[in-house]
Amino acid sequence: MVERGKRLAILKVARLGHPVLRQVASAVKPEAIREAETQRLIDDMIETMRDYDGVGIAAPQVHVSKQIAVIEAKGSRRYPDAPDIQLTVLINLEVTPLGPELEDDWEGCLSLNDFRGLTPRYQQVRAKALDREGRPVEFVATGFHARVLQHERDHLLGKVFIDRMPTLKRSRIWRSIRATGAVRKTHCKADKVSRRGRRLVCSLRGRAGPAPMHGLTWRIEIALPSLCSAPSSRSV
Ligand code: NI
Repeated sequence: MVERGKRLAILKVARLGHPVLRQVASAVKPEAIREAETQRLIDDMIETMRDYDGVGIAAPQVHVSKQIAVIEAKGSRRYPDAPDIQLTVLINLEVTPLGPELEDDWEGCLSLNDFRGLTPRYQQVRAKALDREGRPVEFVATGFHARVLQHERDHLLGKVFIDRMPTLKRSRIWRSIRATGAVRKTHCKADKVSRRGRRLVCSLRGRAGPAPMHGLTWRIEIALPSLCSAPSSRSV
C-alpha cells in the first residue's frame, strides 16, 4: 500500500472557458504515481467528486493538466438510475470503442454547471490505465459506465461533452445559458464554418451570478452545436 496523508481538500473546479480544460493533459510517469503529491491529488479529486455529487472527475477539471481521472457512482442524487460503479482511479487512461454502436443519453459536466445535452457515446469500450499503485488495469465497460469513461477520457484530451453533440439550432444554446441566470447578457461574435463542419464561436460576458462567471468573457467554441435542458440534473 502507498502511504496516504490524512489531509483532504475540496478543490476548485475549472469552468468551461478556462484554458486548462482545452489542453491535452500530460501523461504521468509511472515512477511519479507513488509520490506524495500525486497521491494527495488523487485523494483530493475523490473528495471533490464526492462533494460535488459527480460520478467522475479528471485532473484538468481541478486545474492540473495531468492524465488522471477518478470515477465512482453509488446512490448519486444526480444519477438516481445509474448502475453502481466502484471507485476507480485511472492514470494515463486509454479508451477504445468495441464496435460502432452509439447510444444517446443526457450528459452534464461539473465544468459546465447547469448545462446538459443529449450526447452520443460508444455503447461498449475497453479501458486501459494504471491504478494509483501504478499497476496496469484493463476492463470492458458498457452503457453508463462506458459513457463516464469516454467523458473523462475526453477531459484528458481537452474536450468536453458539448463537442460530441449533434447539430441543433444555436438559439437553443443561448436559451440554455441564459436560463441558468449566470449570464445576463450574451453576445454572438461569429458563426464560422470550419473544415470539420459547422463550428459556433461565441463570446459570453458574465454580468452577474456565480463568481466563476462574473466579469469574465468566455470564448466558447462548439463543434456541431447543441445544448438543451435535460429533465433532470446529470453531471459527470
Ligand atoms: Ni466533465
